[in-house]
Amino acid sequence: MTNASDPLQDFANEPVLELRRAAARDSLIGALGELDRELPLTVPVVVGGDRRDGGATFESTDPGAPSRVVAAAQRADTDDVAAAVEAAGRGFREWAARGAAERARVLVDAAAALRARRLALAALMVRECAKPWAESDADVCEAIDFLEYYARQALALDHGPDLLQVPGERNTMRYAPRGVVAVISPWNFPLAIACGMTAAALAAGNAAVLKPAEQSPACALALVEALHGAGVPADALALLPGFGDVGSALVRDPRVHAIAFTGSSAVGLDILRAAAETPDGQGHLKRVVAEMGGKNCVIVDSDADLDEAVPAIVDSAFGYAGQKCSAAARVLVHERAHDALVKRLAGAVEVLDVGPAERFGTDVPPVIERDAQERVAAYAAEAAHGGTIAARSERAPGEGWYCAPTLACGLDPTARVLAEEVFGPLLTVEPVTSVDAACDIVDGLPFALTGGLFSRDPRTVQRVSARLPVGNLYVNRGITGAMVGRQPFGGNRRSGIGSKAGGPDYLLQFTEPRVVTENTMRHGLVVE
Ligand SMILES: NC(=O)c1ccc[n+]([C@@H]2O[C@H](COP(=O)([O-])OP(=O)(O)OC[C@H]3O[C@@H](n4cnc5c(N)ncnc54)[C@H](O)[C@@H]3O)[C@@H](O)[C@H]2O)c1
Repeated sequence: MTNASDPLQDFANEPVLELRRAAARDSLIGALGELDRELPLTVPVVVGGDRRDGGATFESTDPGAPSRVVAAAQRADTDDVAAAVEAAGRGFREWAARGAAERARVLVDAAAALRARRLALAALMVRECAKPWAESDADVCEAIDFLEYYARQALALDHGPDLLQVPGERNTMRYAPRGVVAVISPWNFPLAIACGMTAAALAAGNAAVLKPAEQSPACALALVEALHGAGVPADALALLPGFGDVGSALVRDPRVHAIAFTGSSAVGLDILRAAAETPDGQGHLKRVVAEMGGKNCVIVDSDADLDEAVPAIVDSAFGYAGQKCSAAARVLVHERAHDALVKRLAGAVEVLDVGPAERFGTDVPPVIERDAQERVAAYAAEAAHGGTIAARSERAPGEGWYCAPTLACGLDPTARVLAEEVFGPLLTVEPVTSVDAACDIVDGLPFALTGGLFSRDPRTVQRVSARLPVGNLYVNRGITGAMVGRQPFGGNRRSGIGSKAGGPDYLLQFTEPRVVTENTMRHGLVVE
């Protein structure tokens, strides 16, 4: 267990709060009240232990009440990028020299620091990203899990694999850190994803420069402070709050050895292309780990239990306003079950409660920003134009970036809304002649992140599991909520490159394997 006398023993997922209990809800509301009294927070550029402020700033605001400023953050520039990478080059040597056991202990201490602040951190996500309480709490737990899990993985990695040994020869293999890792994170898991990528880089012995999403700088600062407070050397971890230009400069710096990115496909592809360059003076190739967008389909067979399918689909499509990368976007249902499923989904969508993230009864919070609201509205208008709106919950409050949760059907198979990632509360339903026809559709997509199947036939489950290219397939359950160590997470095809976060291979990507072969036959005595 995490708090046992030897903290580096077995791993268990951090338990989420029981929000059905009034005491748990009251404690969160109390934490939100405390946070509100401190707003706006300030977020500096953090490089080499210096906290730079006094330059150009930008604001993160509450998506549910955009006039509320959550944080005023320094806007990092290219000089900050250069300074952060320079410091990280020094910090790398100090941190790598500490050894795996010491590094793991620091990560476990950082997990304890997040655990101690879990209410305040959840409140911060409610405000900065309009992430409802249950999801914010789960985000904190996932961040803790990443720290605890990668700490243990680092110890296992340090041992190295067993190689074949023959007489007269000794073979050893170890995983050396790569150097400086650029971490570029999104806002939708403002603590967990930034933490996962940073923790993995550090656990393997690298230095990290974190460029968090411009929408969630305060959440990123909380992470960096926890890691520094736990003992990560000042030079080995920098924070560069800012926009895409800073991320772009960071990933192009020739002193960066690896890039861990999570975000949209467009930006991920740009980073992959940039990382392929080898400018003069860069004596290495950059390793890129990229987790990108998806168009996640749920297949519903004619024998599916709709009592099970309907709530699971609704939760997967509309939880956090459809802004999880794993969210359900497209339902492919056997034509025999189509009308019944649409009717029942429509009934469920119409009663979704749209409201602020801080209200415990909210099903669908606002989306992150005005651009997102406009993007979702444009796709919904297209769906209305090309198909039929089967349901829409119109009860969106006035202020804030709210979008009406929408269920659309009757769309032409070539419609743009069926092919592109909407990243908002819009779900489409299409009839298919068979589960195999549904698999053909999924197989034809460039994305392959998550997917779902509802079927009562074990042969169908086996066939679809073997066929679908998605990184994470969920059978007879919702398709979001991957847990560290239980459901290693990540996409295939154009949804991502690299092995799965929260899984046994993830840390390897932040290392360079080295093999030493020694001739152990005696060659006489050394005479000096
Ligand atoms: N596959 C996954 O595990 C996963 C998880 C979460 C989110 N996502 C995806 O992330 C997207 C939503 O997040 P977002 O809106 O923050 O994504 P985004 O791509 O707009 O931004 C992600 C990060 O990249 C930075 N960035 C922007 N332009 C850049 C550039 N040219 N070079 C370097 N960095 C740049 C941003 O400032 C931010 O820090 C969705 O597409 C979602 O599917 C995927």
